[in-house]
Amino acid sequence: MLKPTIGIDNIAFSTSKYFLDMGDLAFARHQDRNKYYCGIMQEKMAVIPPCEDVVTLGCSAAEKVVKSIDKFEIKLLVFATESGVDESKSGGIYLHKFLRLSEECRTFEVKQACYGGTAALFIAYDFVNLNPDKKALVVMSDVARYGLKSIGEPTQGGGAIALIISANPKMAIINPKTSVFSKEIVDFWRPIGYDYALVNGALSSKRYLASLKKCYDSFVKINNISFDYFCYHVPFCKMALKGHSLLFGDTPFEKTTISYNKLIGNCYTASLYISLISLLDNSEDLKDKNIGMYSYGSGSVAELFSLKIVDGYKNYLDKTENRNFIENRIRLNVDEYEEMYNTWGQKNIEYQGYQTSGNLYLRGIIEDIRKYEIKHG
Ligand code: CAA
Repeated sequence: MLKPTIGIDNIAFSTSKYFLDMGDLAFARHQDRNKYYCGIMQEKMAVIPPCEDVVTLGCSAAEKVVKSIDKFEIKLLVFATESGVDESKSGGIYLHKFLRLSEECRTFEVKQACYGGTAALFIAYDFVNLNPDKKALVVMSDVARYGLKSIGEPTQGGGAIALIISANPKMAIINPKTSVFSKEIVDFWRPIGYDYALVNGALSSKRYLASLKKCYDSFVKINNISFDYFCYHVPFCKMALKGHSLLFGDTPFEKTTISYNKLIGNCYTASLYISLISLLDNSEDLKDKNIGMYSYGSGSVAELFSLKIVDGYKNYLDKTENRNFIENRIRLNVDEYEEMYNTWGQKNIEYQGYQTSGNLYLRGIIEDIRKYEIKHG
């Protein structure tokens, strides 16, 4: 009997209702606005209000992909994050509750910086390969925080991706012949107790590129695939462009792969997959096209894999909703951004008066217990 194909049956993203224009940040930090607009190629960055975290952002993305399927078919939920809310408990278990998933659904969290999302994807792949009658939900969710006035400040952002992984997928088939490159380095890390990351910016960029070349050289040895498009992990958009120039020289860079990333900023685990949605939403028909996918997580683990797009995938995209959401966000000034940044994570206060990306919000962290609530009406 022929083995079924396995891949992405549905995909959705979410991000904050608030953003900061990079020109406003540049002005406040006494930088040339073109350093941000052109030098790192970011136009806007998502600002995460106190009532949102990786759980609420993940939940608003996941709500969109579970609504059209039988939720009881989901028997695995893998939650990937670099900015988790608990040292012990998985962020996924909150989603399990609010999405009302089956009690027989295995639920846990994985971590390896921005690579965690791809690790989760391949855990789901293996699970469906063994259990083709079951589905897996993969949620990648992050709040990218580096600190006010830090070197990484213009490369912040936040958002989430949700994927349904199944047999005979409706959107993209995953090629399991991947190439991996792992090496312990100190380029980006977040010590226990810190709510923002520490980074060696120059080293991280260097290692991103070196790992890309290693992965690419190994990938082409084991696959006979020519890439029609290529999505990169996008810590900031110029990084993806640099990766592209390294692999393909002067071959034009596909700008639709960063249409959303340049307006949202870094989302760590979700960034590569926001690039994928960006390409799917904003390109002509990609039926049967091969997409290269480069995942990089500082610290470091990198993996290169490919997707083949399935005929009819466009019927499952929410292009208008995605674009409207991004266009209708609320612009903050720098004082408002700093106020949100400083209030985020504060304990024993009620987070009131903020807009949220979806139905779930964080009311407050009261005596070290996170109080989540569902919006009514
Ligand atoms: N007009 C146009 N361009 C300008 C300019 C101007 N007025 N001024 C500067 N630039 C250009 C620079 O030439 C440079 O471009 P190139 O890299 O092409 O030479 C670019 O703007 C950035 O300038 P700098 O390198 O001087 O900027 P910086 O020292 O402030 O640091 C950064 C930039 C390294 C991205 C920093 O913001 C940072 O550390 N960010 C976080 C780390 C990160 O994202 N690393 C990426 C790889 S790690 C990873 O991928 C995992 C992850 O998600 C974190």
